[in-house]
Amino acid sequence: MTITDEQPLAGRVAVVSGAGAGLGRAHARTLAAMGASVVVNDLRVPSDPDPAVTTAEAVVAEIEAAGGRAIAVHASVAEEGAGERIVAEAMGAFSRVDIVVNNAGILRDGPLRKRDRSDWEAVIGVHVHGAYELTRAAWPHMLDAGFGRVVVTSSAAGIYGTANNASYGTAKMGVVGMARMLASETAGLDINVNAIAPLALTAMSSSAGDRDRAADVVGDLFRRMPAAQVSQTVAWLCHPDCDVTGRIFAVGGGRVAEVVVTETRGWMRPGHTWHDVRDNWGRITDRDELLVPVHLSDELKLFMEALG
Ligand SMILES: NC(=O)c1ccc[n+]([C@@H]2O[C@H](COP(=O)([O-])OP(=O)(O)OC[C@H]3O[C@@H](n4cnc5c(N)ncnc54)[C@H](O)[C@@H]3O)[C@@H](O)[C@H]2O)c1
Repeated sequence: MTITDEQPLAGRVAVVSGAGAGLGRAHARTLAAMGASVVVNDLRVPSDPDPAVTTAEAVVAEIEAAGGRAIAVHASVAEEGAGERIVAEAMGAFSRVDIVVNNAGILRDGPLRKRDRSDWEAVIGVHVHGAYELTRAAWPHMLDAGFGRVVVTSSAAGIYGTANNASYGTAKMGVVGMARMLASETAGLDINVNAIAPLALTAMSSSAGDRDRAADVVGDLFRRMPAAQVSQTVAWLCHPDCDVTGRIFAVGGGRVAEVVVTETRGWMRPGHTWHDVRDNWGRITDRDELLVPVHLSDELKLFMEALG
């Protein structure tokens, strides 16, 4: 295996969930083109009755046709033990796991009063339990090797909010918390965990939300946002030279930006009452000076400073 600028992932092994279509397919193809051997996971099986549906097998064939190495693993990442099974297949085929891209996702949109526990569990299951499953199974291999790259897939819908998607928003902020926690857990190691909030034209984005508005949104914006463009940022976050960890990036259509969590300078008066909170609301919410804590300790420092 020769590591070159074109093939910086030569000798590395990447697992991409939900890679039979959409963004996952693009990530898998991009990482393979960078030299990684790729485990293409998807729920869909080749016998899917819809002939338009792409599968993990089809993506493996695309990667092999381009000279890359890949295997398909069918599994729902939401199921307990799925991560162990996928990683065992990766170890069997390629003897290591360096990169995990937690991408698999589903939507069950609709107002909260029309959604039930099974919708909620389905969404949390794929995004949150799915990211846990794959990352947890790959984690010991990364710790043993002293190298790892994990990407979780968040969403602007979850970070900033949108109507009729409470389960999705919960899941998408859940994986951000997971990424930030795991980044802290591996501070000082060459194991990075980051989140992306992508925008791209895929089956999911074409069908999301209000059907009448979706046509406009897709026509005006999403058509100019190919999935493969998002994969370039995933590629850099998985690159051995990239030392970024615990961060969130908004990516789509050629635009890449960092999403940061900010806090106002705030207001301080020990022993205050709710009347004081009401009367000082302007100072509490004053955005003239926004602070960017990047770790719990930064947040604690703000309280220590205020307490004097
Ligand atoms: N497309 C966008 O604009 C956009 C925006 C924000 C976030 N996202 C996120 O990006 C990720 C990819 O979405 P996409 O737009 O490519 O959607 P998509 O529907 O085109 O692809 C999702 C893939 O995940 C697979 N999948 C679903 N459940 C699975 C499971 N339990 N186990 C394994 N595979 C499973 C599907 O079969 C499908 O191939 C998702 O996490 C989604 O929430 C997408």
